[in-house]
Amino acid sequence: MNAPFKVIFDTDPGVDDAMALYYALAHPNVDMLGITTTFGNVTVEQATTNALYLTAIANQKIAVSQGIGTPWVKPGEAPPDFIHGADGLGNLRIRQSVNAVADPRPAAQFIVDMARSHPGEITLVAVGPLGNLAAALKLEPHLPQLLKEVIVMGGTVSEPGNVSPVAEANIWNDPHAADLVFTAGWKLTMVGLDVTHRVIVPVSLFKRVADHHQHIATDTLLHAVNFYATFYGDRHAEIAKIHGCFGHDVLAFIYLTRPELFQLEEGRIRVATDGLAQGQTLMRRKDIDYPQAGWESHIPDTSACMQVDAAACTQELESTLLRAWL
Ligand code: BDR
Ligand code: CA
Repeated sequence: MNAPFKVIFDTDPGVDDAMALYYALAHPNVDMLGITTTFGNVTVEQATTNALYLTAIANQKIAVSQGIGTPWVKPGEAPPDFIHGADGLGNLRIRQSVNAVADPRPAAQFIVDMARSHPGEITLVAVGPLGNLAAALKLEPHLPQLLKEVIVMGGTVSEPGNVSPVAEANIWNDPHAADLVFTAGWKLTMVGLDVTHRVIVPVSLFKRVADHHQHIATDTLLHAVNFYATFYGDRHAEIAKIHGCFGHDVLAFIYLTRPELFQLEEGRIRVATDGLAQGQTLMRRKDIDYPQAGWESHIPDTSACMQVDAAACTQELESTLLRAWL
């Protein structure tokens, strides 16, 4: 396969992670070189099981490497089974047996090995807590030069948080790792709640996709999204009206394939690691020079997605999932 985007997908599947995975697998321009798993929506062991399962039922043989299971510094929390189900996929009633097994390397080593063997070619799309990226940076300090770019679903600049008034879940789950990632010096784009809260994806889209393919992979996705949409519908009146959900993680891939659908702002981003603001992504706008420590000029810029063409993203998701990929 000679697709333009070579990708490693760092993920905690998770329903919107599954949506993102299938969008990427369906997209002709994405060449998925490997999946690395992390804790977050589920335990890291369950995330690995789900990544192996989702790829196997979609008839894809992709290396899956298990990553870290706890935050870098703070204590771990119980996974949010009320959002993604206890199994991360909306409590599937049965699973087909699959015999795929994980790559023996830890995720951080896998990332470093792949980056060294494809220098300057790989985009790392990370849609969970960022511990694997932080661990990979510790293993290989030149990782920012070895990767083409990093796209993170996480954080927020202006939109309120989804686990505290200021924190988005992926950053909240490992703020120390996230701060390392935001200060590492790679080409980094943040796809945060500023845009993911603008894109509400209706369950009916996944129903059309499942009816079209008549395949276990898209049936599984429809089941999972239905569960997830019930959680969002119970909390947001405008989502309940259309029985839908936020697309969160899939937006990171749509940014990769259709960047023209997003408007970005550049600035230094740091993460609050403790206290009431823990997990907040703070962005220094370009025009103000702050004298306080932590905002010096050596801190690299991040590009933050601030606006999105929501209708075009939904259309892009549907037309891609409807392609002949299964
Ligand atoms: C992020 O948190 C997780 O629950 C989702 O999978 C997504 O990555 C949204 O805040
Ligand atoms: Ca996720």
